[in-house]
Amino acid sequence: RVLERSRTIEDLRRAAHRRWPPGVRDYVEGGADGEVSLQRNRDAYERHSFLPRTLQDVSDVDTTANLLGMRSALPIALGPTGYTRMMHERGESAVARAAAPLGIPYTLSTMATTSVEDVRAVSAGNLWFQLYVWRDRGLMRDLIARAAASDYQVLMLTVDTPVTGLRLRDSRTGFTIPPQLSPSTILGMAAHPAWCARMLAAKQITFANIPGHQADPAGVMEFAAAQFDPTVSWDDLAEIRELWRRPMIVKGLAQPDDVRRAVDLGVDAIALSNHGGRQLDQSVPPIDLVSEIREIVSDSVDILVDSGIRRGSDVAIAVARGATGCLVGRPYLYGLGAAGEAGVRAAIGILGDELRRAMQLLGVPSLAALAADGRTLVHPASA
Ligand code: FNR
Repeated sequence: RVLERSRTIEDLRRAAHRRWPPGVRDYVEGGADGEVSLQRNRDAYERHSFLPRTLQDVSDVDTTANLLGMRSALPIALGPTGYTRMMHERGESAVARAAAPLGIPYTLSTMATTSVEDVRAVSAGNLWFQLYVWRDRGLMRDLIARAAASDYQVLMLTVDTPVTGLRLRDSRTGFTIPPQLSPSTILGMAAHPAWCARMLAAKQITFANIPGHQADPAGVMEFAAAQFDPTVSWDDLAEIRELWRRPMIVKGLAQPDDVRRAVDLGVDAIALSNHGGRQLDQSVPPIDLVSEIREIVSDSVDILVDSGIRRGSDVAIAVARGATGCLVGRPYLYGLGAAGEAGVRAAIGILGDELRRAMQLLGVPSLAALAADGRTLVHPASA
């Protein structure tokens, strides 16, 4: 019933908010520091203007994309998000099961609460694995080997996280994996008995890819701070490129020089991202970088963009500006929180329908046509 009433990602968001206790809601929604990037990411999309081309035959519109050499039903991949079983007890498995039949890729996070192998066991689809550079490089190499052995098609190295951003909402709510009881979390949970019952019935929730974490429940901020390696450098990227023989994405670049260097090291795609406003606050909205970076790399690599996409028309903007495709984070988590696997399907369906309609109203039959005509169809500023 929730899904019948949900016409937009915003509807799914409201439904998820009703189900989640405050600690989970704040973990998903929060940005770093003053949450300036979080707001600007949205503003940047809304600032764009469409100039539709009329009287085109748009009865047959093709939304299929080629991402990292593989066909995707939409120019969208589900981005990596940690702790996903906190949002719904089926977590990453539900997301993977929703994405595969709809023909779009899903990226499993290093910080996932379901293992690389368990997610592969429920999905024969196009799975990508997101890697953080760990202090323990042995563990990092193991993760790369496990992802290859489980036939993940793409490795996504996230590089905007030498340390974690300061997410004040989490440090104030004391969000932990697994959940720990404190007066405020007990109150929050008591107000959400359905969520609590599902969590209690679920097996213990841990960082499933990190051996030993189970024995050591820790605050999210503290745990990540202890594991992320602030010495991470270009040498690590070069080593990882050697270890991983399949397509590889670097996520979280913003500087043109960094993009050139990554391309020289042989990466196949870059993901322009400010981590959904969760890392360096006031970092530039990635959509504003796309056209400049496309000029620099030409057609040599794919460009993905994320942070702030909430509608199919935002995806159209990204493609028009020069992106090959997008990642989304919170949009599918809202679906997951609202209704599990069916909710993730709904989120993908909404974005796909909205993209198709935007293309029809813009007068373009394909993503290639949208990209080729992007400068005339989409203007970057309303001012
Ligand atoms: C993230 N993101 C993220 N990125 C990453 O590389 N590894 C991770 O483990 C996580 N975890 C994570 C958790 C949650 C709750 C969110 C919301 C985000 C960032 C994510 O991959 C993506 O860059 C952003 O979510 C994109 O912005 P939107 O779509 O959420 O606005």
